[in-house]
Amino acid sequence: MSHSLFSFQNIISNLLKSQTEQEEVTSAQALEIVYQELLEKISTAFAHRDTKETVLSGGIALSSQHALDCLKDPLRTVRFIKSMNAAIMDAQKQFPNDTIEILYAGCGPVAPIILPLLHLYQSNELQVTLLDITATSKFSVTALIELLGAQSFFKPFQLCDAISYKHPSETPLHIIVSEVMDKALLREPQVRVTQNLVPQLSENGIFIPQRIDIFQEFSFYGKEPYFDIYKNVLKLGPTYDTIGRSQLFSISEAINTNSNFNFTSEIIDVPQHIEAHPDVCIFAELVIYKSFVLTKSQSLLSNPISVFSLFNLKSKQFQLTYTTTDIPKWILTPII
Ligand SMILES: C[S@@+](CC[C@H](N)C(=O)[O-])C[C@H]1O[C@@H](n2cnc3c(N)ncnc32)[C@H](O)[C@@H]1O
Repeated sequence: MSHSLFSFQNIISNLLKSQTEQEEVTSAQALEIVYQELLEKISTAFAHRDTKETVLSGGIALSSQHALDCLKDPLRTVRFIKSMNAAIMDAQKQFPNDTIEILYAGCGPVAPIILPLLHLYQSNELQVTLLDITATSKFSVTALIELLGAQSFFKPFQLCDAISYKHPSETPLHIIVSEVMDKALLREPQVRVTQNLVPQLSENGIFIPQRIDIFQEFSFYGKEPYFDIYKNVLKLGPTYDTIGRSQLFSISEAINTNSNFNFTSEIIDVPQHIEAHPDVCIFAELVIYKSFVLTKSQSLLSNPISVFSLFNLKSKQFQLTYTTTDIPKWILTPII
């Protein structure tokens, strides 16, 4: 049987129509199966099984296998695809005379946020530059594109670091998508990549994700619902009643691009009674595009982390610092 971009037609039709979370999960599972079948057919079979990550100054780039595993984060995958399709349609209205130029930074071995949508468009309507630092991802996705006969949609692949990539200025970018993030913006270089790419967007262009909001709260971490790729995201259990939630910062197109992003919170008071809320927790919520969002614990990207146990804290106040220098991390500093 020959393969083409229309291999995704039924799945994408159902995915874009999906209303309930159950329908979204079903669509993500169907997409994963099609990708598995396609990957078995390509000449670079097994390249995607590479598990070697790349340490960059600004964050860690996932291996091909771990990037592929992100397909198993169903609400994430489906909502990024819905967002991309909505963004393309909006960009076509905003720039009616232009071929829409898309940069997909961190496409992994299967470029799931754009490849399944391409059968809905013509290659004179949109052009895609794929970028990833991992050579095995380049081999897999290039072979997939050939298998699907989709070469006319793609500019040359960029095997490089998105933290320093400069797109040619003669082809201004209408849409940039980059999902290179882990929970609470830990480890992966989402912030530094955003800082580098936002200034390269056309005026009125679209950056996906549109906004990432970072929250702090006090919780009992072990009782929090927490998604991982071996769990059913729809059966994570009841939410835990946290206290003291406050927003720390947001990442969006308005990000300061002049220097490495660092954040230090206001002074935060330790609650009077800590037994039911002993952990200082941080999590992200995303506005991927317009109404497509990921709220707490719905995805690997929006899971909470526990930064510190108050049982081990000697002071009554503390500050939180987020730094993107070397590997992104959170630090709690007691105020004595
Ligand atoms: C979380 S995975 C997402 C893969 C795929 N886009 C998806 O949505 O399923 C992130 C991908 O971005 C790549 N990546 C991370 N940081 C990068 C960087 N600074 N430059 C280039 N690629 C990067 C990783 O190698 C990995 O393939």
